[in-house]
Formats: sequence, structure tokens, C-alpha cells
Amino acid sequence: MAGVRVGLAGLGVMGWRIARNLRDAGLLVGVYNRTFDKALKFSRDYGVEAFRTPGELARASDVVITMLSDDEAVRSVIAGGDSVLSGLRPGSLVIDMSTISPSVSIELASMVRSRGGDMVDAPVIGTSVAVERKELVVLVGGSEDAFNRARDILQHTAKTIIHVGPNGYGLYAKLINNALLGSYVVALAEVVQLGRAFGLSDSVILDVLTKLSSARSPTSELKVPKMLSGDYSVQFALKHMRKDLDIVNREASMRGVPIPIASLALQFYRMAEKMGLSEEDFAAVLKVLIRR
Ligand SMILES: NC(=O)c1ccc[n+]([C@@H]2O[C@H](COP(=O)([O-])OP(=O)(O)OC[C@H]3O[C@@H](n4cnc5c(N)ncnc54)[C@H](OP(=O)(O)O)[C@@H]3O)[C@@H](O)[C@H]2O)c1
Repeated sequence: MAGVRVGLAGLGVMGWRIARNLRDAGLLVGVYNRTFDKALKFSRDYGVEAFRTPGELARASDVVITMLSDDEAVRSVIAGGDSVLSGLRPGSLVIDMSTISPSVSIELASMVRSRGGDMVDAPVIGTSVAVERKELVVLVGGSEDAFNRARDILQHTAKTIIHVGPNGYGLYAKLINNALLGSYVVALAEVVQLGRAFGLSDSVILDVLTKLSSARSPTSELKVPKMLSGDYSVQFALKHMRKDLDIVNREASMRGVPIPIASLALQFYRMAEKMGLSEEDFAAVLKVLIRR
């Protein structure tokens, strides 16, 4: 562990905070971000290098962490022009923490291995708040050896790190979580609106859904106050939940598995995106249900 040089690509809501934790642990050598100004700001704030390309980042690192939006972003950073692959050295490890299609991740892992490196998919459960508290849950897919190396790094930003299976399996585990989460938040929005239509006060709705209900959860505690106050400042962007349910839908239909609830939830997030809510927190899906 001592002397391992970690580089991180993707300074979004999650990546910025993960990078900060790794910098505090003395592991981070530098960062890359598509919008270079963000990397420069991180570099100025935290005294690590800002790299102009993923290739430069990989050349300076033993371990590269990617925390990016979607399939396209991860493909371009790992396998595009002057990418992680072009800077990868034999023995390097890539830890992709993004939520992307398992098939894309499996394909990229095989490209990384063909260059003498290794890769794990390491998607997370938990929001930016969980990163700040170092309480993330990480679901890892990959070889036993790569998992052990990844765990040594990730323990500085996460509380629970589990090995789920070979490449792709971290993502499969993440997808069943988000199929449930996306459906549950639509259901929460529906009953918040129903409670209001019944004439219940916001404080009664809050108490029932976050304290008294046998179906209360950390998610109801986080999202019901946002729905009641109309504060949709982003913890997890609605566009990302739509993206995750799209992946769930594709993976399920490839296997002929019926997922009527998650498919219906996906339609709500698609409608919300059509209403211009992509960048708001996914609790803003409630706005689809407001009668006009
Ligand atoms: N936020 C959460 O609570 C949460 C929880 C669990 C899992 N996740 C997952 O974690 C991942 C990151 O989430 P986030 O909330 O941190 O996302 P975010 O704030 O939207 O940040 C996305 C990052 O990806 C980069 N990016 C986007 N498209 C790119 C492209 N084509 N090429 C290169 N870089 C690109 C962005 O760069 P720019 O700065 O240039 O735009 C930014 O650094 C997503 O897969 C999400 O589903 C998020």
C-alpha cells in the first residue's frame, strides 16, 4: 500500500469528494476531468497535479479510479484518444466506480487485461453525503487479487466493500439496488401527493413516511423532506436514475425477465427529463405527478 500512486478521473458530485478523501489519506497523485477548469480548481485547493488527458493521468499512477457519468464517458476515458489504456503500465489497476452497462465494463476489463493491467467494476451505493462520511458501500466485480488491491485503496473512502463475483457482477448487484430505489422513489412521490390531496399536513406526511411506516427507509428520510420542501438540489441527478433504469430495462429484456414495476418507474423519469428536470435530484420525479 505505502507508495501506491492513485489517479482519479471524473470530478463530479461523487468523484470530487472521493478524490478529496484519497488526498487526505496521502494516496492521490493527481486528477483528470473533461472540463479542465474543475481539475485545475481541485489542484489549487488540494495540492495535487491536474492532468490534461486520461493518458497522462495513467502514466503517473499505479491505480486509476474512474467516476464518470455513463457508458460513453467511461469508454472515452478508458479507451478513447490518449486514454487510460494508452498510458497504462503492466500491473496497473483500473477501478471503475461509475454505474454503467455490465457488458461495456466487461469489454473494457478485457482490453485492460490485454495491456497487462487489471480492472474491477466498483459501483457504489450511497450519495455524496455518504462519501463525506466515508460510509459508501462498494460492490466489486473482478478477480480476487484485483479486489484485494482495490479494497486497500477504497477503504479510505468507503465503509463496506464487498466482492460480488467476476467482472460485471458489481454492476449487476448495483442494478438490482437501483431498480428498487428508482421504483421506491416514484412510489414515495405518489403517496406524498396523495397525502396532500387527502388534506394531511406536511408534518404528518413526514412523520408517517420517515418515522412510523414499516416501509420507512434511509431513502424516505432523505427524499421525503426534499419532496415536501421542493428542494431538489442534487444528491443524485435524475438523469443518472433514468440512465440506470434504462440499463436495468435492457439487461432484463435481454434475459426475458419481466420487470413491470421498474419499467413503469422508468417512464416517470423519462417524462421528468422531458419536463427539463434532468439536472435536479431524482426526487423531482414528483413534479410529473402534480396536477396542472
Ligand atoms: N451522485 C450520486 O449520489 C451517485 C450515487 C451512486 C452512484 N452514482 C453514479 O456515479 C457516477 C458519477 O455520478 P456523479 O453524481 O458524480 O455524476 P456527475 O456529477 O454528473 O459527474 C459526472 C462526471 O463525468 C464526466 N463526464 C461526463 N461525460 C463525459 C464524457 N463524455 N467524457 C469524459 N468525462 C465525462 C463529467 O465531466 P465534466 O465535469 O466535464 O462534465 C464529470 O466529471 C454515475 O454513473 C452515477 O450514476 C452517483
